[in-house]
Amino acid sequence: MAKKKLIRFAALPDLPNVRQQARDLRGFWARQFFNNNHPITLELACGKGDYTVALAQRFPGNNFIGVDIKGARLWVGATQALQLGLTNAGFLRTAIEDLQHAFAEQEIHEIWITFPDPHPAFGKRRKRLTSPRFLTIYRALVQPRGLIHLKTDSEILYHYTLQTLCDEGADVLTALPDISAVDHGLELLGIETTYEKIHRQEGRPIRYIAFTL
Ligand SMILES: C[S@@+](CC[C@H](N)C(=O)[O-])C[C@H]1O[C@@H](n2cnc3c(N)ncnc32)[C@H](O)[C@@H]1O
Repeated sequence: MAKKKLIRFAALPDLPNVRQQARDLRGFWARQFFNNNHPITLELACGKGDYTVALAQRFPGNNFIGVDIKGARLWVGATQALQLGLTNAGFLRTAIEDLQHAFAEQEIHEIWITFPDPHPAFGKRRKRLTSPRFLTIYRALVQPRGLIHLKTDSEILYHYTLQTLCDEGADVLTALPDISAVDHGLELLGIETTYEKIHRQEGRPIRYIAFTL
């Protein structure tokens, strides 16, 4: 690991808005971590937590938790949230495969999945964050009719997700193969993540799906 990443990773335990294990908070995030009873939105594969921070600024009456396995990236979002004085933004370092150990059934109001690794090789499709095993996890954690949003640049992941949602009997509310090509009126799609900026610079269309399970 590069030196800067190591320093950031080592500093994670000192950040009051970051948890690296959360079994004790399972079912109690709102009350014990945020000291309120507001709904919780997760940003999965959050990286530097661009959506977590931007949504927390826009919606002070909701709680937001960025989830990623990479601590040095979480450090960036967590530090920014602290500098902005955001008390409704938190960060959890965990594998998304283990989400059920950190959150109770129906504890989550909404999920954003932002530019997850597409794992384009067919043999690695189980690792895609919209594969059936991950949808099973989300189905348990999200409240009934809770919205799940996916933003991706990957054509493979976009079509794979639509097919998987169809196979799973999910309700697809919106499917945009290029969010810049239509007047969708969805203001929140204007939030740009770190990876999104790179994809846009390289001319790749940004795709979006909203669904419920
Ligand atoms: C391409 S980056 C996108 C980061 C950020 N959302 C953005 O758009 O800038 C994908 C992120 O997903 C995280 N990730 C991938 N698989 C994961 C998993 N199974 N559990 C937790 N994090 C994961 C990686 O650590 C990485 O930070």
